[in-house]
Amino acid sequence: MTGKKIVILGTGGTIAGTASAAQDNIGYTAAQVGINELLGSIAALEKLPLVAEQVAQIDSKDMGLDTWGRLALRCRHWLAQADVAGIVITHGTDTLEETAFFLQSVLAPAKPVVLTCAMRPATAVTPDGPQNVLDAVAVASAAGARGVVVVCAGTIHAAADVAKQHTYRLNAFSSGDAGPVGYVEEGQPRLSRNWPEAGPGLPVRTLQAMTTATQWPRVEIVMSHAGANGRVVEALLAQGVDGLVVAATGNGTLHHELEAALVKAQGAGVKVLRATRCAQGRVIARPDDTLASAGALSPVKARIALMLELFAAAA
Ligand code: SIN
Repeated sequence: MTGKKIVILGTGGTIAGTASAAQDNIGYTAAQVGINELLGSIAALEKLPLVAEQVAQIDSKDMGLDTWGRLALRCRHWLAQADVAGIVITHGTDTLEETAFFLQSVLAPAKPVVLTCAMRPATAVTPDGPQNVLDAVAVASAAGARGVVVVCAGTIHAAADVAKQHTYRLNAFSSGDAGPVGYVEEGQPRLSRNWPEAGPGLPVRTLQAMTTATQWPRVEIVMSHAGANGRVVEALLAQGVDGLVVAATGNGTLHHELEAALVKAQGAGVKVLRATRCAQGRVIARPDDTLASAGALSPVKARIALMLELFAAAA
């Protein structure tokens, strides 16, 4: 611990969820307990220099660009304070990897921004949230920590690699082939690789423009599967779409009918990226590819990367 402040930003999720019966770990309502109440229930935090703010109170399935914009601006504000060591964000697990990737893309912070969560509601017989918050605070306070990471079930994941891999287990996240950044053991991070790279991030003015933008570039995800065809792509083109990410099979292969529609869309000026629907691995590009590879980005992360690219190009 550095003695500096840790800022905790609450956004809702199961970690702040309540159920009518303590043994019910699935029939709960997310985002019910305020961040101050949540922190007040964790005795081990009592003596720490914490500042808490409720930025949102939502089930993360409903996460949207407006909340991302506000969250990024609050992070930017607090990270600029010399007496702040780092930030912890409490968040639902369902879109956690998307928020983490968005924040790393726009902030690339030199201090730690640690997203944490729970798979059981706050009212559970043995909730996992309190230990996850303690571990996240330990990471946010650790000397040398930087970048946007996720802390869940004692494991530290980089925003670029993390993905929710299980619907129910407490250890629901994986960093795939990249492996975790490290682990938290008795309040101490033990690293297995470097923290995410820091960079300048986007200027505050751009972040503000994102928050107030009435319209973001529209990027949709389509999937290649047995029996796929080009009709979804045609319907999206007719509605007006700026970018398409395709969740392709294997190493980026596509049903030929869907591929033909995507190539046509690209010819009409819509940016297309091929990600894989496989849980592990990347789309390894070839020099003669017609449709660009999303590399190691999952479809949901490729969508964010493409939205940011198109937003920057339009600015
Ligand atoms: C949510 O993502 O907000 C609900 C599910 C969870 O946190 O596990």
